Amino acid sequence: MSLWVFGYGSIIWRPNIPYIAAYRATAVGWSRRFWQGSHDHRGTPEAPGRVLTLVPMNGERCEGRVFEIPESEISSTLALLDHREKNGYERQQLRVETAELGIVDALTYIAPEHNEAWLGDASAQMIADHIRVSSGPSGSNTDYVLSLHDALEADDIQDAHIAQIAALLR
Ligand code: BEZ
Repeated sequence: MSLWVFGYGSIIWRPNIPYIAAYRATAVGWSRRFWQGSHDHRGTPEAPGRVLTLVPMNGERCEGRVFEIPESEISSTLALLDHREKNGYERQQLRVETAELGIVDALTYIAPEHNEAWLGDASAQMIADHIRVSSGPSGSNTDYVLSLHDALEADDIQDAHIAQIAALLR
């Protein structure tokens, strides 16, 4: 039995996991938002950056990618993802839609509201201004946003929140 992992953020443009298949996938009723603080990747504990989490939103859809991890790689992949997503994220099972396979039960990582690094909503201008001045061990917060925006555009995926923040940063 393989494991499916749904990616909506950096995993789309930098998977770094041993997948054997990947498909475009949609999480219905969810939207990605830069509402999570990053102490360990795109910011520091003193000056956290802003990174994505999935937020439940009626009527919204989040288009990302689902990755198939072979059984032999599941435990090492989960260890890697648990470490990569340790700053407030929790494992969550989601049902996502794919054109190729229909509904897929996939694991993802979501930072729930009120976790210790939660920043929450702000205006697009405030989010962009915050991201512009943030950086951490994984690089600049701006690169994180623009890399995702480029990857979504290459896949012809429209996301108004990402496009708005990317436009302000460019
Ligand atoms: C993401 O970037 O979307 C992601 C990263 C690790 C696990 C699941 C999703």
